[in-house]
Amino acid sequence: MTKAFVVGHPIKHSRSPLIHGHWLNAYGLDGTYERIDVAPVDFGDFLTGFHAQGFAGGNVTLPHKEAAFLGVGRRTERAQRVGAVNTLWVEDGVLWGDNTDALGFIGNLDATLGTGWEQDVDTALVLGAGGAARAVVAGLQDRPLKRIFVANRTGSKAEDLARDLRPGSSVLIETAAWEALARVIPHAQLIVNTTSLGMAGQPPLAIDLSRAPRSAVVADIVYVPLETPLLTAAAAQNLRVVDGLGMLLHQAVPGFRRWFGVTPEVTPELRALILADL
Ligand code: ATR
Repeated sequence: MTKAFVVGHPIKHSRSPLIHGHWLNAYGLDGTYERIDVAPVDFGDFLTGFHAQGFAGGNVTLPHKEAAFLGVGRRTERAQRVGAVNTLWVEDGVLWGDNTDALGFIGNLDATLGTGWEQDVDTALVLGAGGAARAVVAGLQDRPLKRIFVANRTGSKAEDLARDLRPGSSVLIETAAWEALARVIPHAQLIVNTTSLGMAGQPPLAIDLSRAPRSAVVADIVYVPLETPLLTAAAAQNLRVVDGLGMLLHQAVPGFRRWFGVTPEVTPELRALILADL
């Protein structure tokens, strides 16, 4: 039997067990995926000890993603770029870390818009400069876009992100002032919200989409609620929208494949199952 986990603190709200449990069941695999609550002070011991306890690997969520980044023996190039690790496994005795949020974001765009969507996108605008923004920019960098603008309320964090992700990038990464978004929006065929604005209990992300290109795609990584005020406004302008739930589902795919040896599918059935739990 193969055992995997999601580790965090707190952990009871994680939807990962529902996703992986669904796939274990759907593919008839002999495995488990369990929640483990580990306080930050104990995380180092957990990291070095989970394999001896019979776990093949697992996911890492808040607040441990940076500690996991620092604690693994080796990281994928993508995790290195993002600066955070959310997926762990052991290979030839070495503890590996990956960041699958970037793949989740891009995988969801591919699935929702159809592969080749990037042919219509030369400029993307990413709002926010936290961990999620880093993953989104790292994902977009692997596609043949011309440039990515990053805009954040705290401008210095956008500068830091751009500086960290620029080396080796074939996509130009520029920053845009949060107060001057109106100047960038008309040039952006892809607009992505990675801030917490629009999340239940938070104010909406109030940006004017009236001058966005008619072909623009507006994506939100917030998924509670699924239809954020941003996506509602985009749909009202007849822009294409991509909600945040798909990213959550797609980011789970690489870990499952690694631990359980099957590439799982993100089906409408799985989406409905998670939707019912939001
Ligand atoms: P995550 O890891 O999910 O990206 P985070 O690192 O806490 O979370 O980042 C939250 C993002 O939402 C940041 O870009 C933050 O902007 P600041 O860097 O200026 O704090 C953004 N954000 C949160 N509340 C905001 C608000 N009221 N207005 C604008 N941006 C906001």
